Amino acid sequence: MYAQMVKSTGQAVRTRDDMTVEERAFQDRIDRGEKIEPKDWMPEGYRKNLIRQIGQHAHSEIVGQLPEGNWITRAPTLERKANLLAKVQDEAGHGLYLYCAAETLGVSRDELFDMLHTGKMKYSSIFNYPTLTWADMGAVGWLVDGAAIMNQVPLQRTSYGPYARAMVRICKEESFHQRQGFQVMLTMARGTKDQKRMAQDALNRFWYPALMMFGPSDKESVHSAQSMAWKIKMNTNDELRQKFVDETVPQAEFLGLSVPDEKLTWNEETEHYDYSEPDWSEFFDVISGNGPCNAERLKTRKKAWDDGAWVREAMLAHARKSRARREAAE
Ligand code: 3HC
Repeated sequence: MYAQMVKSTGQAVRTRDDMTVEERAFQDRIDRGEKIEPKDWMPEGYRKNLIRQIGQHAHSEIVGQLPEGNWITRAPTLERKANLLAKVQDEAGHGLYLYCAAETLGVSRDELFDMLHTGKMKYSSIFNYPTLTWADMGAVGWLVDGAAIMNQVPLQRTSYGPYARAMVRICKEESFHQRQGFQVMLTMARGTKDQKRMAQDALNRFWYPALMMFGPSDKESVHSAQSMAWKIKMNTNDELRQKFVDETVPQAEFLGLSVPDEKLTWNEETEHYDYSEPDWSEFFDVISGNGPCNAERLKTRKKAWDDGAWVREAMLAHARKSRARREAAE
């Protein structure tokens, strides 16, 4: 079974009239902009929705190491190799902060990994696409980390304290990743004819998958309304996608590359770019487990988990022995 096979379950937004006294008091705290902390009372739906979103986010960081890890041994210079190594390491750190944030909601790390491995939890669609050339390392940093920042900067103000605080450091590091990706693209776009062609090819392949990262269109989004009422999400999927297009198109122009969208035009009236929607049937196919790399990504993650079993067992045995020694001494 593939990860991402689980179907979305829609959430009806609760009106004030439907709420219990406790739920109303909770919603008032959210509306006042207060942070919710792990020991505070929270509706079960809020807790579950946060575990789903934070867990999916954590898995995305960990699975997201794989397409880039693929290029560490083939980076063109020592400096590029060191940068890529540091970036991939940062992603592991992001995964760990996020797993810790999810654990404060009463789910264990083992349960979260089990849900990833058995297909009960998703990870970002983007990491089911292959990285075929070195230029893809530029496109991933520029577009994928760029899209991630667009989505995650507002999450620094999310209502759940541990999630909001984890996001502060993550966003700083993602900004650095986005810049190093842009710098790789700039070098290639200003390099030889072949290097520029590779940069354009990477942009062509990653543009629409990057747009899909923001999730389905607002009318198809199952969770947005309730998540926004609870400030688990601060913007809709389409709002953030539009912001990403508006900021990224001038960057592509600066690179001298073309965004692969014939309909892309600046709209004087709305002061936004009009752009073509991604192929949503492809998106739903990818999140159902049928993307180009889903099976490979999951197989690699499961192998890493199985290979690490002896480390987890050794740590537990060490903790047991230390406790026994401490108790014997007391
Ligand atoms: N990939 C996989 N699944 C996706 C998806 C995507 N890009 N976008 C939406 N989905 C899934 C949802 O999880 C949901 O399925 P579920 O009910 O089984 O969980 C379904 O599609 C319907 O979508 P909704 O719009 O209703 O879902 P959300 O309200 O959760 O919105 C989201 C999706 C915008 C991705 C939101 O969850 C979010 O903001 N998450 C936090 C950020 C995050 O997870 N980012 C991952 C990016 S990668 C990254 O950060 C790594 C870095 O190194 C680049």
